[in-house]
Parts: sequence; structure tokens; C-alpha cells
Amino acid sequence: EKGGYDHFMLKEIHEEPDAVKKTIMEVSDIKKVVEKFPKFNRICFVACGTSYHASMIGKYLFEGIVGIPTDVILASEFEFSAGALDEKTLVIFISQSGETADTLKALRTANEKAETLAIVNVLGSTATREADHVLYTRAGPEIGVAATKTYVSQLTCIYLLAICMGQNEKLLEEIHKIPEYMKNALEKEDQIKDIAKKYKDAKDFFFIGRGFSYPTAMEGALKLKEITYIHGEGYAAGELKHGPLALIEDNVPVVAVVPPGESHDRTLGNVQEVKARGASVIALGSCNDAVLRSESNDIIEFEDEIRDLWSPLPYVVPLQLLSYYMSVERGIDPDKPKNLAKCVTVE
Ligand code: M6R
Repeated sequence: EKGGYDHFMLKEIHEEPDAVKKTIMEVSDIKKVVEKFPKFNRICFVACGTSYHASMIGKYLFEGIVGIPTDVILASEFEFSAGALDEKTLVIFISQSGETADTLKALRTANEKAETLAIVNVLGSTATREADHVLYTRAGPEIGVAATKTYVSQLTCIYLLAICMGQNEKLLEEIHKIPEYMKNALEKEDQIKDIAKKYKDAKDFFFIGRGFSYPTAMEGALKLKEITYIHGEGYAAGELKHGPLALIEDNVPVVAVVPPGESHDRTLGNVQEVKARGASVIALGSCNDAVLRSESNDIIEFEDEIRDLWSPLPYVVPLQLLSYYMSVERGIDPDKPKNLAKCVTVE
């Protein structure tokens, strides 16, 4: 049932291009839901863990493509921070399982005041029965505790929703290229395996990115903690100099997510700062980026010209593979990390 792979997690990472493709096929359902929407003046994403990182990207997309002010709230913090909800607010719940206790609690609170939409992978789960509107991600069942193919499917659904609400035909065409970009990212597997061997005994890891790459950095750090038990921190690259730079010393691995685009030069500047303090830089960037290559100890290069708006989908793939191979190198079962459950049904 693992389809010839050593673990479900690896199988599920390899299923990502297909999961994205299948979720793109849901676009007509998304359009139908959007047609029913009244005019909203605020969007609010609510989620936990990896689903929260997908939501962070949702904020950038909704503000950028649809032009609606958007908040992202951790489900466990919702009761403390979602004060001003009304019928002009759309609250979007992102949950793979549709059963996460914190998310369901927030959904019940939001249902009383605002319009709610649940984006869920598990058919018929509680969230799908309680939200006003439902959209499904088409990742298929995910067995590994670490969310991988469900994350990229959530992202795909969120991109499509923003594109449909913003009526952006050009982006709707572009999204069809993404599964191919992701397949190409999977081809970096052997190189990533070597990088994993090199860094498997590190004590601390930093992940940095700016704009669309900031949530990617956060997600890279979460995957690392979850399945390798190594301390990993995801930071907005611009925040480095406001504290964490003090922790950068010789050989501390810093994973830098640096796709081409608006934020590139500034993140490259941050790479130079950590390099000057002795960090080992593992960079993700374009194959045409000679400066980034020269600043990096290891670089995972993308041959496709992927602009930063689309980078979260293909760029997360090497980060998932890196954690997977480090987990295996450290003798851990990545499918069943200690202390964690696939579905968190307690608050
Ligand atoms: O089922 P959900 O998407 O609501 O789950 C939320 C988190 O528990 C989940 O994403 C968790 O962070 C993952 N195991 C991370 O890989």
C-alpha cells in the first residue's frame, strides 16, 4: 500500500503534482460557490499548523489579487482576536481532516456572526457539515502524520478561490503549469538526500524567506521539528536583524528561500549577512541566479522560471524532502513522529 516507497510520507510527496492537478479540476465547483457569495469587505483565515501556513499565503493572495483586507488567525487564538465579525466577513477554515478541535470550535463561534467556508480534504468530516459553504481539496487520503500533499492541495484551492473572486483569467491559465514545476522539483531528490546526510546532526536550523516565501520558510521549519526532532525556526528574512541574527554562528544551517521576484535582492542581502557570520547556507532559487549560488554552501536550483507568486507550491517540495531524508538518516519513522497525532481532536 506504500506503492513501493519506504514510507507513506515519501509516497505522498511524490503524489503532489497529481493532487494539485486534481484540485485544479475543482475550479467549476469553486466558481459555483463564489457566485453565491454576497459582497464581502473582510476575509479571515482560521487554521492550525500546516493549514495555518497555507492560510498565510492566502492573505497575500487575497489582498494582492482580490483587494480585500485579510487576516490570518490561529484557530486556538480565534476567540481572543476575532472581535469584529459581521455578515460582510467571510471566515475561511482550512483543515485537512475537518476534525481539528480548535478549528471546529472557531467555526462554531464564527457561524453565529459571519459567513463561513471550509476547505477540507476529508469528505463528510465535521467541518463540511457545519460550515455555510464547503470546498474540497483532492489530495486523496493522507496517512503520514506530516501534512504534505494536502498542504499543496490546500494552496491550490486557495489560489483558485482568490483567482475566481478576483476574476483573473491570466492567473487561471498560469496555474496549469504548476504540476509540471512540481514534478521537476521532485527530480532534485538525490541531491537533497546528500544535503540531508550532511546536516543530519545539526542542533538548530533557521529557515528564512520574504513575502510569499515567508510561509514557505515557516512550513519548512515545522516539517523539520515534526519529523526530525531538530530545533528549526522559520523567520521572515527581514526580521533576522531584530534578534535571531545573534544566534547565527559558524556552521549553523540557514535554509534560504530566494525565488526570483520583487523580494529577491533583499533576501539575498540577508543571505550575505548570515554568510558573513559563518552560517552554512542551503539556498533554494533559480538556476540563473549566479550570485545566490556563489553565496551558498548548497543550492537547490529550479530550471523553470517560476515567479514569486507561484513559488510556494514548487518551493515547498525540496523542504519536505529534506526533512524526510533527515528523519530517515536519524533513524526516525517519519510517518509516526512521537507525541503527535494525524488528527488533533482535543483543544
Ligand atoms: O487537519 P488539519 O489541517 O486541521 O490539521 C492541522 C494541523 O494539526 C496539521 O497541519 C499539523 O500541523 C501537521 N501534522 C503538520 O505536518
